[in-house]
Amino acid sequence: RLKVGVLVSGRGSNLQALLDACGDASHPAEIVMVLSNVPGAYALERAAKAGVATVTLDHKQYDGREAFEAALNEALDAAGVELVCLAGFMRLLTAGFVERWRDRMINIHPSLLPSFKGLHTHERALAAGVRFHGCTVHYVRADMDAGPIIVQAAVPVLPGDDADALGARVLEAEHRIYPLALRLVAEGKARVDGERVVIAGAEAPDHALV
Ligand code: GAR
Repeated sequence: RLKVGVLVSGRGSNLQALLDACGDASHPAEIVMVLSNVPGAYALERAAKAGVATVTLDHKQYDGREAFEAALNEALDAAGVELVCLAGFMRLLTAGFVERWRDRMINIHPSLLPSFKGLHTHERALAAGVRFHGCTVHYVRADMDAGPIIVQAAVPVLPGDDADALGARVLEAEHRIYPLALRLVAEGKARVDGERVVIAGAEAPDHALV
């Protein structure tokens, strides 16, 4: 099974979805470590409960991004990580780090990229009056919230939605698509071809969900 390290900063509900999926021995990925840049993040408790090794690297203890990322790489290498999953990891990564993990690092973002990169996506989707919103799992590139798209799910924006209601609907979709995207990647079925991902095989219709 592909050895995965998950980077988190917060509550870790996406981590939980990945832990649950990979807890099934038939899933082609195995989570070997969970790393948080925020001491005490609830995600760390979820990992511990699942029997997965945890590492905390408080970025504030490091003298600059490069030093922090050197420690990150050391921890990932020590655990034998082959693929990095960002799951609510709220630190920007340098181009050097991203390049080192090129096509071996994926992220989940709470919008239908390339719309609404960055923060407060649900508020901005409501303000823009879009009728569909959603979430995206993509390979990470140096530009924030950019990179070849692996799986997306769309959810409707309903009358009366506020950011919390819409966000909850999106989060449910996140928990469905992240394990699916990880499966496609781990099975070698989500191949990067230039700026896009080509999905191979029978799962092809599964990578766009509504
Ligand atoms: C998720 O909605 C994730 O998509 C988002 O943060 C939340 C983390 O929740 N990520 C980003 O905004 C990345 N820029 P979780 O800790 O419960 O998985």
